[in-house]
Order: sequence, then C-alpha cells, then structure tokens
Amino acid sequence: MNRDDILKYSMRHNFWTWSAQENVSVIPVEKAKGVYFWDFNGKQYLDFNSMVMCVNIGHGDERVIDAIQKQAKTLPFAGPHMATEPRALLGKLLTEIMPGKLDHFLFTLGGADANENAVKLARAYTGKFKILARYRSYHGATMGAIALTGDRRRLEWEPNVMPGVVHFLDPYRYRSVFHQNKTEISEALFSKDYLNHLEEIILYEGPETIAAILIETVTGTNGIIIPPEGYMQGVRTLCDQYGILMVTDEVMSGFGRTGKWFAVNHWGVEPDIITVAKGLTSGYAPLGAVAMKSEIAAHFNDKVFYGGLTYNGHPISLAAAIATIQVMQEDGLVGKAEQRGIKLSNLLKELMNKHPSVGDVRSIGLFGAIELVKDRETKEPLSGFNQPLSDVMKRIKEYILDHGVFLYIHYNVILIIPPLIISEEQLEQGLDVIDKALKIADAAL
Ligand SMILES: Cc1ncc(COP(=O)(O)O)c(C=O)c1O
Repeated sequence: MNRDDILKYSMRHNFWTWSAQENVSVIPVEKAKGVYFWDFNGKQYLDFNSMVMCVNIGHGDERVIDAIQKQAKTLPFAGPHMATEPRALLGKLLTEIMPGKLDHFLFTLGGADANENAVKLARAYTGKFKILARYRSYHGATMGAIALTGDRRRLEWEPNVMPGVVHFLDPYRYRSVFHQNKTEISEALFSKDYLNHLEEIILYEGPETIAAILIETVTGTNGIIIPPEGYMQGVRTLCDQYGILMVTDEVMSGFGRTGKWFAVNHWGVEPDIITVAKGLTSGYAPLGAVAMKSEIAAHFNDKVFYGGLTYNGHPISLAAAIATIQVMQEDGLVGKAEQRGIKLSNLLKELMNKHPSVGDVRSIGLFGAIELVKDRETKEPLSGFNQPLSDVMKRIKEYILDHGVFLYIHYNVILIIPPLIISEEQLEQGLDVIDKALKIADAAL
C-alpha cells in the first residue's frame, strides 16, 4: 500500500480510541529505531513518551525481534493449560527480579485485564468485596479497571461500572488542600496525614468489607505523583493491621522506569500483588501479568479460580518478555535510568527557574512531569483537571509535536517518559524544544 492509501483506509475503517472520530489526529508511522520514530514523510520524532509509556528498551532492538521470530517458528501458539518453554522461563526470570516473595504469575494481555484479575484474586482470597483506589489514578479502560480509575475516564461511564470501589485522596503535595498553609511540613508528617485519611476511610467503610487497596506506586498519567517518605510503608502497615491485601499497579512504573526494577523497591515495600504490563515486553508484543505471593496462589490449590483468557501465556508475547528482561539486564538499563534520571531532574529544575508558568516539576528515574499554572501563587492550572484541554495547552502540544518531539500532555501536565536508553544529549534536545514551547505558556500568564 502506498502512504496515501495507508492514511486513507486507516481513517475510513479504523475506530479510534479516546477520540471523537471527526477530530482525531493521527501520525502515519513508518519505522522506529532507538529513541526515534519516523512518519511517511521522513519526519523524525524524538519519542518522549516511549510510544504509550511502554517501549522502555527503545525501538527496534534486534535481540527481541529475533526472539519473537524464533518463537513464531517453533511454537507460535499454545493453550492456557500447556507448559511451554517461554512460560517456564519467564516465571523463573520474573521471580528473580520481583520484590520479596512474589513468585506466581497469572499472564494477561495488558494492564487493564491484569488489574481486573488482581481484583478477582483479592476478592476470592479474602472473601471480601470492596476495593480502595485513589482519585488521581488510571488503571485501564475495561469496566472493572475503569471503576478503579479515579479520573474523568471513569466518570464518563458511570453508573455502569464494576461496583464496590471506594476512592480516596492521593498524597499530592503540590495540591494538598490540607496543607495550603503548611507548605513546610516534613515528609513524614505529610505522609502521616494522608495515612490517617486512608485509615479513617477504612474504618468508615469497615475493614471487614475491604479486600484490597489498589494503587499506582508512582501515579503515571495523572501527574507523576511520587509517594512521600513513609507513605508506602504506612499503606503496607494499614493493610497488615486490617487484613487487607496491598495491590500495586506497576503497569507504567515497573521495569526500570523509576530507576529501580519496580517503583516499590524505592521504599522497600513488598505488596501482596503487583500488576505489570507495558515495559514487561517493551511493547514488542501485548502482555500483562499479575504477580502474587505464593500464599495467595496456594489459596486456590483446592478451589477453582474462575477466570481465564484464550491468550493466557501467549508464547510469542512471553518470548518477547524474556528477551526484553535479558536486554535490560545485559545493558544495565535500570541503572542507566537511575543515572539519566539525575540529569532529567536537573533539567526540569532549570525549566522551573526559567519559566513563571511552571508551577512544579517532579521526577523519579525517567518518569517526569512539568505542571503548568496561570499563577504560581494561586496554582490555578493552565488547563483544568477533568476539563477539555485549554487553547494554550493545545498550542503548546502542537508546537512540541511540530518541532519533532512526541510526548503526552494530561490537562496541565507535560509528561516526560522516554525510552531508558536515551542519552543525555537526546534528553537535552527534547527539553530544549519544551523550553521554547513554554514561552507560549509564559505569554499566557
Ligand atoms: C498505571 C496503569 N495501569 C493500567 C493501565 C492499562 O493498561 P492497558 O492499556 O495495557 O490495558 C495503564 C495504561 O496506560 C496504566 O498506565
């Protein structure tokens, strides 16, 4: 097909997600390598979003492509109840990198169904029903995962979503309503306030009704909210105290993104269940997983787990995951992400010093955000949360894309989530474009 037809037929027949079909704007992509991809006109884009926050090892790594090809030639598919070499190998590899005693894995196709299955497991294991999740969260678009999600993406589907989810507030220091007059509060006390809030909700809802607390370890699309010191440990303690399972969604924050294999490693916390996807295969094939402690798996030794997927453990996806993890190990990508993260953090601080429209910058590893405001005093966002994107934010987005940097903007927050292989120079180049785009924001103050 020639490039005109590719665009023509894609527009004619494809149904686009998260979009009004008439307004959708798509990039006709031809190829991708390293931290770049190219459209059919030969325009190069620096990928500051790892496509969909997933291509952690970078594009076009031949080692993963070879592994996929080899698997396709040997055994392209096997059923959910078949033992295969990639199933055996991936379970072994994941056990080595997962925190603590998470050593059983239920494979899914992506993040949403990993979270859905985590909810099923938690409910069946505890015999309880409610799930506590946070407002500034995204956990997937299926009817269970969207019920867990806190932002507008859930509101649009209510009331027809999975029942039993109760939301609570995120420890979001920059916009904490409780601390507007206490901006100097220590991290420990700040964490304690949010843990007290969570405990109050547990007590109001009744601990005997709550199966799990399910949270993104570091909030992704909703603004890279990094838990303050003591928070994750405190959630673990509350879960232990009240017999609630701790489930962390590491779909976006896992696989080196934050400079550790999993974000929970920063706080030495061992959840009962971790859900993963995206970076698990770096997007080379669809795959998610629910990692659980052996005692949760053992609960189902004599009870049927009512759940399954045709493509549970698809050999090609499993092979892609094995090769991805090996690439990360061979190339030391977790350590590289940590190192580059220091550079990113410094560059973000420079932008904050330079631009009055930057209200806050946050990052951990190569997981960064720039939060734009109309006024640093009032912190009024440049585009309202859960509102259509403001014209200024639209112009910023257009400028950045026109200048060859591909990234994701969520309301007033610019996200920086590049492949972990990015060099310091490439980081600087991307941030240089953002620096120029921020003049649009400054002019709008
Ligand atoms: C934290 C988090 N959880 C779950 C999901 C859903 O994953 P998927 O789109 O693979 O269903 C996403 C996707 O962006 C995510 O960021």
